Amino acid sequence: MPERKSPTSEKSPSVRRRSPLAIVVLAAGQGKRMRSRTAKVLHQVAGRSLIAHVMGAVEPLGADSCVVVTGYDAEGVSQEVGARARSVVQREQLGTGHAVMQSHGTLSGFDGDVLVLCGDVPLITTKSLRALLRRHSRSGALATVLGMVLDDPGGYGRILDEGRGRIRIVEDADAVGADRDVDEVNTGIYVFESGFLFRSLSRLDRSNVQGEYYLTDLMEAASRQSRAGCSLLEDETEGLGVNSRFDLAQAEAVMQERLILKWMEKGVTFLDPSTVYLSCEARLGRDCVIGPNVRLDGATSVGADCVIDGSTYLRDTTVGAKVHVKWGVVADRAKIASRVKLGPYSHLRPEAELGSEVHVGNFVEIKKSRLGRGTKANHLSYIGDATVGSGVNVGAGTITCNYDGFTKSRTTIGDRVQIGSDTQLVAPVSLGNDSYVAAGSTVNKDVEAGALVFNDKKQQIRKGWVKDFRRRARNKRGG
Ligand code: UD1
Ligand code: CA
Repeated sequence: MPERKSPTSEKSPSVRRRSPLAIVVLAAGQGKRMRSRTAKVLHQVAGRSLIAHVMGAVEPLGADSCVVVTGYDAEGVSQEVGARARSVVQREQLGTGHAVMQSHGTLSGFDGDVLVLCGDVPLITTKSLRALLRRHSRSGALATVLGMVLDDPGGYGRILDEGRGRIRIVEDADAVGADRDVDEVNTGIYVFESGFLFRSLSRLDRSNVQGEYYLTDLMEAASRQSRAGCSLLEDETEGLGVNSRFDLAQAEAVMQERLILKWMEKGVTFLDPSTVYLSCEARLGRDCVIGPNVRLDGATSVGADCVIDGSTYLRDTTVGAKVHVKWGVVADRAKIASRVKLGPYSHLRPEAELGSEVHVGNFVEIKKSRLGRGTKANHLSYIGDATVGSGVNVGAGTITCNYDGFTKSRTTIGDRVQIGSDTQLVAPVSLGNDSYVAAGSTVNKDVEAGALVFNDKKQQIRKGWVKDFRRRARNKRGG
């Protein structure tokens, strides 16, 4: 917990020793405005749930205790949070104040600062949370709210700062008259002095439009002792609360901008950044050039000096260095070594593994197969459940017939094998090193190393046949 190791000596009056820190994340609501069966905080931004974003932002704070309040799909939400926090269940969602009350048991005996966040504010950064905590401890406030200034404050609680440590928050649903125009709003993130927090929560009532216990009413309680504070976000995009699908799309847009900027700073070129989608987990090496319409999903990692032309979807896929991914490639759970040329229009399915310098081209589908170094499969093929050696040439239209309707069988191809076009390899079958398969063959028995395999299909010729055929056809038609 690096945060807790304060270099401050007790003698220095200018810097306070930081008090113990507890964190409470509110995540019990269904999120009715999402119109979803999935709990709101489990919806994703950049491939990561809203709650996981929040947990990621608080983790570096090194809190002494972290509690997540769950309710709707409590099991799903606490599973998502995992070991990062303790979960408490709020059986009935009676408001944000009631939600924080549920953490009282878990935090009993705790004495320090309590940072409260909503699980639907995924863009908040650790840096801003640190600034809020600093502000709170320096001011000696009982409650400090994190605010932001918005052009359109609609939907958010308005912060009415009356000066001298007195602040009120009026919910959107309760705001009338001039209060509606106040542009300073509540992000739903606060720091409270723990004793004050739990004492005041027990005195909350529900006399408001929504009939809920509002956490925001605690600001008024602190104001009675002139010890309510407010800290403002520098970048208001961080405070975006996700309540609807529209908000979700906005959060995604902000996150994509952040991720792309991050990779630009690390030396990646994007030809049309606005059309690229990256997951939080995606990694890109230096000097990569990423074309338009590219989506890198899950734990995809791309090595240095790669070019991805465009319209490509890679999911949980590893790409080595100096790989050229041409237009229109789809890869899912594939492993691609360095200097590979892939596409246009190739499909790598789970457990496809391409060795270095492999070329896989147009309309080639590969599943659960390994291709050795320098092997080429450039046109119109299906390679499934196969082990292919190095230096192999897979001719156009080669198909591994891996499925008999009941079981999947494997095809094994040695090194330097030449497979003629339009060939079916009926698995289980193996081709020895340096063997040759004639074009148009159906191979259903093993071929030994160095052998030629072909099917005895004799070519026959009838001279002048076409002329005769056309004459007969015309006569039949009566012309
Ligand atoms: C809340 C704030 C509002 C602020 C806004 C910022 C209150 C009363 N209002 O409003 O001032 O501007 O957030 O985004 O606090 N939750 C529970 N249990 C409940 C109710 C809510 O756990 O009983 C959780 C929800 O799952 C959600 C969070 O608290 O993660 C906020 O609830 P929500 O209903 O979205 O509050 P807002 O109306 O956005
Ligand atoms: Ca909200």
